[in-house]
Amino acid sequence: MNEQTEVPVINPIDPKFNENPHATYDPLRSTDPVYRDTVLNRILVTRAKEVGEILQDRQIPCDPRKTLPDAYARRTFWVDENYKPSLLRMDDPDHKRVRSAVAKVFNQTVVDAMRGRIEEITTVILDTLVGRTSFELIEEFARPLPITVIAEFLGVDDVYLAEFMQWSIAMLQSFNPAPTPQQKADMMRGRDWGIDYFKKVVDARRTTRGNDFISSLITAEEQGQLTEWEILSTCDLLLLAGNVTTTDLIGNGVVALLQHPEQLQKLRANPALLPHAIEEILRYDSPITSVNRVTTDTIRIDGCPFHAGQSISLMLDAANHDPALHEDPHTFDIERTNQRHYSFGGGAHFCLGAPLARAEAEIAFKLLLERFPKLALDPARPPKRKLAPSFHGFESLWVTV
Ligand code: HEM
Repeated sequence: MNEQTEVPVINPIDPKFNENPHATYDPLRSTDPVYRDTVLNRILVTRAKEVGEILQDRQIPCDPRKTLPDAYARRTFWVDENYKPSLLRMDDPDHKRVRSAVAKVFNQTVVDAMRGRIEEITTVILDTLVGRTSFELIEEFARPLPITVIAEFLGVDDVYLAEFMQWSIAMLQSFNPAPTPQQKADMMRGRDWGIDYFKKVVDARRTTRGNDFISSLITAEEQGQLTEWEILSTCDLLLLAGNVTTTDLIGNGVVALLQHPEQLQKLRANPALLPHAIEEILRYDSPITSVNRVTTDTIRIDGCPFHAGQSISLMLDAANHDPALHEDPHTFDIERTNQRHYSFGGGAHFCLGAPLARAEAEIAFKLLLERFPKLALDPARPPKRKLAPSFHGFESLWVTV
């Protein structure tokens, strides 16, 4: 393990790093796969083997309150005396209890039943683009689709959608180790927005119960399976996790396909390849680039012991491009037979929204490609990456049709 003393090798807010993180990961993975980043105070893990092992280990905590003062996760998750984790950052036994209550009412079967409605929503959005010769695909397609779907699932009133979008963009800076004062203030207000909003919805549902998701969680609360905070933070988490990531999956996929016309041609010729293509898009350009865990006194990573309370950053995008996991890892190949990737994490915290993200992406690509047979990148306005640590996507993506 190497000690780094000057500028961070992996700087999540450096545009050059963000543009091509693999130029940094590739040498690091072979020389220092478990790397102590003394600038951001975390341990970076870049090999698929260790990333997979740590994700699968239920004994390794996730809750940032278990980190030492000044550890990366404590700072980036803004842990103070009022901090309470949502499902995403809970450890057992709470995590097991909350996840099992939520998974009963948000799972593959529920998503299968949503498919028809997702198709309708996608068609309405595409209809607004009729007659256009070019459009900005993030703002006009990839963003409204997942937000409309998840907001409807959670029963968020349409009039609040624009406000919610504003706060969810502010929340993208959540993992920024050095936000500006304005970014930090917006993020804090964004953090409270969802909780305050869902408190009102939950209060209203207590008197008029239905068959919806929130009513089911209230029933679970009455049965002693959830607390009110767990209901509110889960709704807030789903609203946020359910939109930005899927927007990026759609945007990253459109760019990958348009930059590799031979792959797009294969997909157009054989639409049955679509589920395969989506897994390759997830592997090739992961919308979430890292997740965090906390060391314990008993942990060994690549044989190396650690003191408890240090932040571990598992670099999912580096693991997805590990040559030990994939031949030619930097090649975009929608017919790749080994589809393994870590873009949805793994183990106890494996993405609960993966079935929804996959369904939305399938419907989005199918209907977009059918509607626009001449879809191409706009040569006058090249795609622009957004700069939001731990997320990888596009800020703007102009296409011609
Ligand atoms: C392409 C889209 C998506 C990607 C790449 C993604 C990625 C991830 C990853 C990497 C994790 C694991 C975090 C960890 O281990 O610390 C996660 C967890 C989670 N995701 Fe997603 N996600 C996506 C879409 C969604 C959607 C659509 C929803 C819900 C509407 C969702 C809800 C969740 C939830 C609730 C968790 C926490 C699970 C737990 O801690 O038990 N995600 N996601």
